Amino acid sequence: MRTQVGIIGAGPAGLLLSHLLHLRGISSVVLEKRSRDYVERRVRAGVLEQGTVDTLVEAGVGERLLREGLPHHGIELRYGGAGHRIAFEKLVPGRSITVYGQQEVVKDLIAARLAAGGDLRFEVEDVAVHSLESDPYLTFGGERLDCDVIAGCDGFHGVSRPAVPEGVLSVYERDYPFAWLGILARVAPSSEELIYTRTERGFALHSMRSPTVSRFYLQVPADARVEEWPDERIWAELRARLESVPGFTLTTGEITEKGVTPMRAFVAEPMQYGRLYLAGDAAHIVPPTGAKGLNLAVADVRVLTEALAAYFADGSTGLLDGYSDACLKRVWRAQHFSWWMTTLLHTFEDEDPYGRRLQLSYLDYVTSSEAAATTLAENYVGLP
Ligand code: FAD
Ligand code: DHB
Repeated sequence: MRTQVGIIGAGPAGLLLSHLLHLRGISSVVLEKRSRDYVERRVRAGVLEQGTVDTLVEAGVGERLLREGLPHHGIELRYGGAGHRIAFEKLVPGRSITVYGQQEVVKDLIAARLAAGGDLRFEVEDVAVHSLESDPYLTFGGERLDCDVIAGCDGFHGVSRPAVPEGVLSVYERDYPFAWLGILARVAPSSEELIYTRTERGFALHSMRSPTVSRFYLQVPADARVEEWPDERIWAELRARLESVPGFTLTTGEITEKGVTPMRAFVAEPMQYGRLYLAGDAAHIVPPTGAKGLNLAVADVRVLTEALAAYFADGSTGLLDGYSDACLKRVWRAQHFSWWMTTLLHTFEDEDPYGRRLQLSYLDYVTSSEAAATTLAENYVGLP
């Protein structure tokens, strides 16, 4: 079997790459170890930057996103007994974000690939990459797929990054001493906009998916397990953190999904080796506070598509050679923004009173200075 681009992973990065390549007349095969049902139900991100929405719409997969996605023109920062709105329409006119579940993006992309006769293989076993320097190929479940190029879109725990010979990649990473417990609940959102809350009990985030489904996150200890968090405990803790301004009442409902996500930052440089190109979480992850992970995956894929289109058009390798450098600028900006949002809003156990006062002082600055609020807003909606 032979294809132009062998893609490992049917997350947002792998599926979007396969779709964008198809639009350029370039063939690909996507190999995914999980079932279609599993990837379509995996609840994760929800905030799409303007650039991500534009990419999906331009690629013809934004019809449901435009119909069902929820455009947001601001977020609330809540701390010290008061809420403060970061108003995108005033600070970054014409730019906004759209709340639309990652698994809905995944469903839309899978539907588009299958409608176009795309080759997506689910529940594929033992994917391995070979001969990255020249004539690369993939093996899986006893089969062999020869490729011109391999795209490692297999997330943080995939097989493509570890296949790069030792000593080639420089790795930068940081683990945070806490995790996020995320839930989905069948209840109307208690607020029209997302609320990022800092309290002495820890961080909480009120998000949503639709007029009848809400999404919440709680800062929990790094070793927290879902079993330690029965529904009543989750609602009590969300109340304690979110009902921290006068007049705000949290409406509760049936919890339909729970999961714990570790908070970690990671970058592997360069994002390429030989004929292998890494995209999305396979190359870098951010703590979720700035909502950047999915958006970075989409940005990588945009760059990789242009580079591959040039390569397959006339054999030119300039854009492919510069792929990693072209992506890493945005990656590091997002790393800094995610670190900044995380340290601004979470409680750190080893923080001394001086550190806590610094954190509150910075929150006061961000919510009172237009320049500081603009910095937050333009990073949140996404840099061009
Ligand atoms: P993934 O989605 O991880 O996809 C990789 C795929 O590869 C998976 O389907 C996996 O099953 C498959 N795979 C792995 N190993 C193999 C193998 N050996 N063989 C074959 N297939 C393999 N980002 C945002 O932008 N905004 C947000 O609001 C946001 N919130 C988040 C909230 C949470 C709770 C979490 C966990 C993440 C959040 N993120 C957010 C991050 C975002 O979900 C990820 O950055 C995004 O999923 C990256 O996409 P990807 O395609 O690179 O990787
Ligand atoms: C969501 C996730 C995030 O990481 C974030 O910062 C905002 C919203 C969400 O899943 O809705």
